[in-house]
Amino acid sequence: MSLSEKLRLGVNIDHVATVRNARGGDTPDPLRAAKLAEEAGADGITAHLREDRRHISDADIDRLMDALSVPLNFEMAATDEMQKIALRHKPHAVCIVPEKREERTTEGGLEVAREENKLAHFIAPLREVGCRVSIFIAADKRQIEAAHRIGAQVIELHSGAYCDAHHEGRLDDRDRELEALREMSRFGHSLGLEVHVGHGLTYDTVKPVAAFPEVRELNIGHFIIGEAIFRGLQPAIAEMRRLMDEERAELKAAG
Ligand code: PXP
Repeated sequence: MSLSEKLRLGVNIDHVATVRNARGGDTPDPLRAAKLAEEAGADGITAHLREDRRHISDADIDRLMDALSVPLNFEMAATDEMQKIALRHKPHAVCIVPEKREERTTEGGLEVAREENKLAHFIAPLREVGCRVSIFIAADKRQIEAAHRIGAQVIELHSGAYCDAHHEGRLDDRDRELEALREMSRFGHSLGLEVHVGHGLTYDTVKPVAAFPEVRELNIGHFIIGEAIFRGLQPAIAEMRRLMDEERAELKAAG
């Protein structure tokens, strides 16, 4: 895995479905958003089918699988129901996330170290049908080692604590969280894992993360969909893409 490879942008379209579901009709359509995102430079589309179907629906996943030209990163909890759905669709990537009914969003990373056997058995059939399995975890060495041992090909490091600290002005915490992401990106990469980062990223927080050469993909949703209200979806994505590319170009120039 070369460090100079492009930093991919995965656009998470969950919250297009959140707005649609607020009225219970067909609009705005997450598939339309996904197609526009492809045109605007998204390298992949991410969608989280939650147990309670609060945003993305089963029908959305069917339609995304049929119509997308870029890879689908299917986020799901480690449940039998979700495993069956993933095995039926065989998306390019499956990202295993923790899920609690009462949470507003995915609050923390998956506890892999304590659930190693169970998760190893859970992901094996997904790998067998050709899905790239990613595990959403905190920037924590124990969790990364466990993700590696269970046979995940990808880890996605949770950037929520870094982003929250930045937006709340807790600058020492922000710097500490950013340093943890930097170190753990290096560590994951050194084990041969592909490293992604996601959660809470905005125009203000994306560049320091895009600067980590070991990171291959960022998954960004809520901020982009919110920003689309003001500037339109494609310009909102294009600006994120520009910031990521600018940072990578600076990295390359610095050698
Ligand atoms: N990555 C993962 C694994 C997630 O669960 C989420 C949120 O669903 C994201 C990235 C995107 O986070 P946000 O919507 O805050 O950009």
